[in-house]
Amino acid sequence: MAILPIRTFGDPVLRMRTAPIADIDDGVRKLVSDMIETMYDAPGVGLAATQVGVSRRICVFDANDGNGAQVLINGEIVETSGELAYDEGCLSVPGFYWEITRPEFARARGLNLDGEEVEYSGEGLMGRVLQHELDHLDGTLLLERLEPGIRKRALRDLRNQALGLLDLGE
Ligand code: NI
Repeated sequence: MAILPIRTFGDPVLRMRTAPIADIDDGVRKLVSDMIETMYDAPGVGLAATQVGVSRRICVFDANDGNGAQVLINGEIVETSGELAYDEGCLSVPGFYWEITRPEFARARGLNLDGEEVEYSGEGLMGRVLQHELDHLDGTLLLERLEPGIRKRALRDLRNQALGLLDLGE
């Protein structure tokens, strides 16, 4: 296992729509194991392959439900309902949190590492992490889920942070 460097805002790989996995081979298994280690090390509750520079449709997450790390290969959101404003951050946009309104409930379907169909669903953190990670695999960052006014301010803050003008108090 290895801890992989996490790509951050501005890296073009984060904007790419990922390709599905055709064959779950040793390379995929190694990547997943490294992604899980990287997620826990960060620490974070989810990680998409694009965040470690791999444009393939894989994500891992741990929704704090006692089930530990889960893997979703070729995942798609198949159902959403309700609406919930929830504080959301992203390991690729470190140091920032925004309240983002998304569907409260989400159901996602995909494959596990054995190539078997799996389904995850829930409200709260589970609903949020599924939507956030699968967004990543479509090349969408949480910034695109912000209201236009808030997004404008967020992009300015990110630019100032890159220029060293914004002190996040770290
Ligand atoms: Ni993220």
